Amino acid sequence: MSYKVPFVGYKIQYQNLKEEIDEAVKSVLNRGDLILRKDVEEFEKNLSSFLGVKYAVGVNSGTDALIFALKAAGIGPGDEVITVSHTFVASIASIIHVGATPVLIDVREDFNMDVNKIEEAVTPRTRAILPVHLNGRVCQMDKIMEIAKSHNLIVIEDAAQALGAKFNGEMAGSFGSAGCFSFYPAKLLGAAGDAGVVVTNNEEIAEKIRLFRNHGQKPPEIICYGWTSRLDNLQAAILNVKLKYLPEWIKRRREIAEIYNKGLADISQVKLPPTPDSDERYFDIYQNYVLKVQKRDELFAFLKEKGVETLIKDPIAVHRHPNLELSHFHLPYTEQLAKEVISLPLYPELTNEQIQYVIDCVKEFYAK
Ligand SMILES: Cc1ncc(COP(=O)(O)O)c(C=O)c1O
Repeated sequence: MSYKVPFVGYKIQYQNLKEEIDEAVKSVLNRGDLILRKDVEEFEKNLSSFLGVKYAVGVNSGTDALIFALKAAGIGPGDEVITVSHTFVASIASIIHVGATPVLIDVREDFNMDVNKIEEAVTPRTRAILPVHLNGRVCQMDKIMEIAKSHNLIVIEDAAQALGAKFNGEMAGSFGSAGCFSFYPAKLLGAAGDAGVVVTNNEEIAEKIRLFRNHGQKPPEIICYGWTSRLDNLQAAILNVKLKYLPEWIKRRREIAEIYNKGLADISQVKLPPTPDSDERYFDIYQNYVLKVQKRDELFAFLKEKGVETLIKDPIAVHRHPNLELSHFHLPYTEQLAKEVISLPLYPELTNEQIQYVIDCVKEFYAK
């Protein structure tokens, strides 16, 4: 089905950048530079300077970034890691994959970790907190770092959805021991496939991740058992092209969020995300524009009929999937959100006419 307002803008973004991306791809192929070559190095350098961190290590996905960051920080069997269930399953899976135990807490109104619930989840086995900066909004990191310090806990940030977002002027991914990003195509900075990165100011962590991603090889030695999880050089070349546009894309995303918020302000059945300038501590980048609404499933169907593609990401909260063996957690707000949230299309290439059309359709639904 072709939508009047599709949920993602992959094709239009490529068309806008076609010349530059084609040139970058051709150059990589003509050079035969496929694995861990200069484009990866350049991207790592460009990204670390954008984020103001010392090291960036490109890997094959945000999930591997999280697994490697936890492992490099020494988290493993017997350790508990505090995180949330209102996230993409990868945040929790990464804890499982290093052999540790996820301890899930509820989120608050802005969809991020409820910092008031962290201390009651701390036990003698707690080793780390894994805050997830969901939808492009950073968690309340001053409080999280304070709690981590007082209990001697490591902080690994899941910043997969928050590239360029800030809290108190500091970038997502730069607070903890390591920050993990995803360049899945739908992300703010999207590759043409899977890609991710770990950023850190800790040289030892960076070095371990360089080893993990490439089978522990430091020629002529093999230092440890590792994985095939390098950021592809071709993806790095594409990401290098797109990274230049990130500041202007973020500006446009914030502009669109503002337009949506103004246009949808008077609908009592709809709870809006915070507006870009509502709290000066937060610089949100609106990776996702998520509403909390009444009659969510009917709204989804209505918008689909109108040609507006929306997303209901997790109609079942992660901890409620029986095979994941997490159903002993009771997270009332998370469970409520699973029934009420819906994401509207938000990407820089949307036209103002498309945005207005979405607003009109939502208004029409609730006026019925
Ligand atoms: C919050 C969150 N964590 C982790 C990931 C995992 O990233 P990837 O899909 O690149 O493995 C994603 C993205 O999909 C995500 O949104």
